Amino acid sequence: MTKTVTVYTCNSCYSIHPTWAGKCSKCGEWNSLSETDKADVKFVTPTSAGQMKKPISISQFKEVADKYIQTLIPEFDRLLGKGFVKGSVNLLGGEPGIGKSTLSLQVAKSFAMQGYNVLYVSGEESENQLYGRAKRLDAIYDSLFLLNETNLLTILHALKNLAPDILIMDSIQVVFHPSIQGVAGSVNQVRYCASELTNYLKAKDCIGVLIGHVTKEGYLAGPKVLEHMVDVIMYFEGDRDQKYRILRSFKNRYHSTRDIGFFEMTEKGLKDVPNPSSVFVDMNLGDNSGSAIAVICDGARPILLEVQALVVDTGYGMAKRTFLGVDPLRANLMVATLEKQLKLRLANKDIILNIIGGMKVKEPALDLAMVAAILSSYYEKPIPAKTVCFGEVGLTGEVRQVSNTVERIKEASKFEFSSIFLPEKRDIIEKVNGQLALNYVKNISEFSQFFVD
Ligand SMILES: Nc1ncnc2c1ncn2[C@@H]1O[C@H](COP(=O)(O)OP(=O)(O)OP(=O)(O)O)[C@@H](O)[C@H]1O
Ligand SMILES: [Mg+2]
Repeated sequence: MTKTVTVYTCNSCYSIHPTWAGKCSKCGEWNSLSETDKADVKFVTPTSAGQMKKPISISQFKEVADKYIQTLIPEFDRLLGKGFVKGSVNLLGGEPGIGKSTLSLQVAKSFAMQGYNVLYVSGEESENQLYGRAKRLDAIYDSLFLLNETNLLTILHALKNLAPDILIMDSIQVVFHPSIQGVAGSVNQVRYCASELTNYLKAKDCIGVLIGHVTKEGYLAGPKVLEHMVDVIMYFEGDRDQKYRILRSFKNRYHSTRDIGFFEMTEKGLKDVPNPSSVFVDMNLGDNSGSAIAVICDGARPILLEVQALVVDTGYGMAKRTFLGVDPLRANLMVATLEKQLKLRLANKDIILNIIGGMKVKEPALDLAMVAAILSSYYEKPIPAKTVCFGEVGLTGEVRQVSNTVERIKEASKFEFSSIFLPEKRDIIEKVNGQLALNYVKNISEFSQFFVD
């Protein structure tokens, strides 16, 4: 037998308190305690605590292979491993308007097409809005069921009646249980509703896709415990105003998180971009000063990107630094290194750096391309066409090795680039050197000679 007692949980640090107080004694946050129901340990009987279960020796264990259902969206299936694992709970996060509902409805369509039962619960959009989107995505199927509801009890009732193969919950922050304290989206509600849904999904081997809101900083809104509860967490990245979107897996209990998925937002929903390099780099562009092609490695995937720089005299006031797509910390570091090591006078110059296509890169391998673009714009000397560069630049101006050198060179040769600037030689490079001229760079002073001559 169990009995519930009332305790108070801090919405900020999730610490539990026996009595209410205006200020959390753990984290110091004001007005953050809210009432929660908790099982009283004194009343937990051995059976309810699961003490009747016996441990099994791992050598006696009979493995049951995970059962997958493919989404038939190749970029998505690759990100997930083979597809959605039955009974798994998957959290899909991202900024407003980035395409969470669109991709989920495409998954729903694909499951319905394969003959599976799908329940799409939306608390944010009316059935009419959902129908409009479904019509646009050609997702009108008998086995795709829509429900506009936020009450968890009604959702669980619908789940029990329909017994779907996949549940899409759009979004977990709007669901509430009438007997739980707090408004929808509060720590109590999100934690309770997610745990009830997870229990149902695991028991019935049903796939769950929970859509989650993100905060201003880009983190998943709601309690951190939600992230521990689910099996897979995926985030959409990209600029809503640009058509390309990146789906990144942040946690996956069934597959590596090194892969990323590339999509393009179209009238008919998100389309796979199997070859992102061809999207981000225009092979027919002539020689322009201030433009450098980099080969970055996002996860396990090498991608060619164009970095553009504009170095102009400051009109009035302080020199401005505008960095789009590049990591501002690394970009500032490159500017300071160029000033110190090459004695460039950049303090009276405005510097703008931009990655074409809306991609955001934090990888240090982009350093050499940033340096190349800045030098090219500063000296107004274009980098020859079909030239790629990559490498990390240290504070003393040395060009350092980065991972996946071979994969990067292979990607450049696939797109018929003829020359590559890269960090000092490594043995393995010989194996992939085909048509490419490999220019090894020791430091940025050596590299800058190319622009000065
Ligand atoms: N008719 C259309 N043609 C092309 N793209 C469209 C069309 N309608 C909507 N979109 C795209 O879909 C995006 C909205 O996608 P979606 O509703 O799936 O986002 P979301 O992540 O679910 O947002 P929210 O968090 O607000 O629910 C728009 O920002 C727009 O880019
Ligand atoms: Mg939505």
